[in-house]
Amino acid sequence: MASFAHVAIDGPAGSGKTTVARRLSERLGILYLDTGAMYRAVALLALRAGVAVDDEGAVLRLARAHPVDIRLGGATPLGFRVFAGDEELGTELYGNGVSTVVSVVAAHPLVRELMVARQRSIATLGPVVMAGRDIGTIVLPDAPVKVFLTASVDARVRRRRMELAERGVAIDESELTAQMLERDRLDRERPVAPLRPAPGAHLIDSTDLSIDQVVDAIAGLATHPAAPGR
Ligand code: DC
Repeated sequence: MASFAHVAIDGPAGSGKTTVARRLSERLGILYLDTGAMYRAVALLALRAGVAVDDEGAVLRLARAHPVDIRLGGATPLGFRVFAGDEELGTELYGNGVSTVVSVVAAHPLVRELMVARQRSIATLGPVVMAGRDIGTIVLPDAPVKVFLTASVDARVRRRRMELAERGVAIDESELTAQMLERDRLDRERPVAPLRPAPGAHLIDSTDLSIDQVVDAIAGLATHPAAPGR
């Protein structure tokens, strides 16, 4: 694979990685992809088809029959376009139904294999800021800049609510907290590609930082990638 100056940003839901990654890509003038959208696309396919999300074989067949494709760039709400087969998917990716089941879908090793292959091929297009859970550990382990972004649960719930509101999805705070904690647990405890900081990742706690402060910090690392991770 070409060794572009990729930036890998991992962290739990609501840590700010989507907003930070997008803004950082604009600042650096490079591509941007939030890989969570790909797992969400597969979850949406399963929900629509009435397939049990814990049936890996059935979910995999669907994902193969309607390949998830990403077109980067463009002034779209997500910052990139998501397709499943010929159909373009939009804000329904962030609806409550998908958010409730997506961790189960993302825990299937063969589904992950499909998505990771696609993500790696996207990374051959040019330097990209890629956000997710396993970007620094699995997808782009050689990325010169790896960041693990965290924040308190309160801050994460607050941000996720705002992010969802911007996408036209309203959700009750206690429901969102419960959903987020359960998703964290599933993402951290799954045997394949669990959420954890990559070796050499820079840990950034964004609880008391503005988006711009986090972007500044990572842009500094991208300009001086030799700074050691902690
Ligand atoms: O970041 P998000 O909430 O859109 O992610 C949706 C789900 O996909 C979440 O349960 C974590 C999972 N995910 C993953 O397992 N690996 C990634 N690289 C990105 C997301």
